[in-house]
Amino acid sequence: MESQIKQLVQSYFSASDIDSIGVFDKRVIITLSKNLEMSEKVEELKQALSQLVPNYKISVVFTANKETSSFHPEEEKWSVPSIKKIIAVASGKGGVGKSTTAINLALALSRLGNKTAIFDADIYGPSVPTMLGYENQPVVSYDGKFVQPFETFGLKSMSIGSLIDRDTPLIWRGAKACGALQQLFNETNWGEIDVMVVDMPPGTGDIQITLSQKMKIDEAVIVSTPQDIALIDAVKGVNMFKKIGVPIAGIVENMSYYICEKCGARADIFGHAGAQVTAQKMGERFLGEIPLHVAIRENADQGTPIVYSQPESEYAKAYLKIAEQL
Ligand SMILES: Nc1ncnc2c1ncn2[C@@H]1O[C@H](COP(=O)(O)OP(=O)(O)OP(=O)(O)O)[C@@H](O)[C@H]1O
Ligand SMILES: [Mg+2]
Repeated sequence: MESQIKQLVQSYFSASDIDSIGVFDKRVIITLSKNLEMSEKVEELKQALSQLVPNYKISVVFTANKETSSFHPEEEKWSVPSIKKIIAVASGKGGVGKSTTAINLALALSRLGNKTAIFDADIYGPSVPTMLGYENQPVVSYDGKFVQPFETFGLKSMSIGSLIDRDTPLIWRGAKACGALQQLFNETNWGEIDVMVVDMPPGTGDIQITLSQKMKIDEAVIVSTPQDIALIDAVKGVNMFKKIGVPIAGIVENMSYYICEKCGARADIFGHAGAQVTAQKMGERFLGEIPLHVAIRENADQGTPIVYSQPESEYAKAYLKIAEQL
């Protein structure tokens, strides 16, 4: 469907007038050159699109000419010398629990005595502010140059979601997104950090590759659910990092099994051990499994991650076991 949508847009406007065409989760976001703002063809295109994909939300945004963009992130190296080690938490596929895993792992690393930070680089759906309970809180700067990281549960953090409106990043093209992330990463007052966990955008495209190289990621943790379809993407994730020379710390199986709260019986809803077998096949380390449990979801969604709110639970221990191996 994505290619049909793109073809349709391209049949209305020339390549030089189209800045980007994004299709995500039943949404189409098109950015066009500003000089088309008054064009009647825009309305015609919207109508044609709503016939092609009636249940999609369609947005058209106008941008200034490409030449005016001042972002040239490829020319600059990112570096914050006070951060000793950077671990990316990544997944080939979205929605597998990458952010939940990243946050709980960061909290577990902190509990093991490391000065820990989490950097939310997920431009497609930043969720760290929600999961750490500071959504809608403004970013603070004391000197007008550097911003203060948020500090919650002993964890320092900064999120691209705190910088921009939730919907904005979707329309950024690669260079712009990387430029904004670079600025946020470099201009946060991190202080001494033993280990930083990065919640990466899902997928294995240009943005992920650029980010990994610019941030000088030391190693990557790949999160997958046990289904084959998720594992195919996990393999892609492993291969992407290998190709650019980032060592794989290992694979985590999330939503691995379910324990019934009432009867204690275990159910392997999405199958089981798929990630372990895949890790073995690829010669990568299997770091462990995280059960599917409503307490993990509720605590993540309400800003009290389980490693903090239920530190003695079996679920918190599952994250700690993984953190110990890192
Ligand atoms: N082990 C788990 N048990 C129960 N719920 C979970 C578990 N892991 C994640 N979830 C829930 O699944 C949903 C998706 O998780 P999360 O947002 O961490 O995924 P993600 O891979 O970061 O997604 P996205 O690609 O959208 O960023 C959330 O509501 C989260 O609370
Ligand atoms: Mg996420």
